[in-house]
Amino acid sequence: MDIKLEELKILFDEKQIREKIKELSAKLNKLYKGEEVIAICALKGAVIFASDLIRELNMPLRIEFIRLSSYGSSTKSSGKVNAVDIKLPDLNEKNVLIIEDIVDTGLTAKFLVDFIHMNFHVKSLKFCSLLDKKVTRKVEIEPDFYGFDIDDKFVVGYGLDYDEHYRNLPYIAYK
Ligand code: IMP
Repeated sequence: MDIKLEELKILFDEKQIREKIKELSAKLNKLYKGEEVIAICALKGAVIFASDLIRELNMPLRIEFIRLSSYGSSTKSSGKVNAVDIKLPDLNEKNVLIIEDIVDTGLTAKFLVDFIHMNFHVKSLKFCSLLDKKVTRKVEIEPDFYGFDIDDKFVVGYGLDYDEHYRNLPYIAYK
């Protein structure tokens, strides 16, 4: 599939995304009640969402970045998660919040959750994704928090790419 800018249709515009982030951050602020959180942003896709989300969070917060990949230059998951860079500080006894752009097959989310549980004894672990493609799930995993449930569309924008393009669009769109 090739995706051209002029073919894109907006699925969620800037205002809808902003409002959804307010809703999600209100839930997270209520959950953590001022306790320190270590946010883990899964690069590259979640970088825009994480930057907007954490600015609405009111607890002491540290942010870490990791990089996983499963798509390459295709619009279908390769089915294998590649840990490009997963260096993390000591997360023992910490409240850990994973921030993702989208849960699709669920393989990336499951890999990350299992990785953290295998390596650390965390105080709490929550998974927050902007988008949830429930229909394409291959493994049993649900984000604790998500913004929008979408059907089986390949989406771009607001951090999400097609072959590294369109991450900079301020909205989320599909072909
Ligand atoms: P999963 O492992 O199949 O759940 O896929 C997770 C990763 O695949 C996400 O973090 C995205 O980087 C990428 N991905 C899944 N669906 C889409 C999409 O519709 N557009 C762009 N990237 C996607």
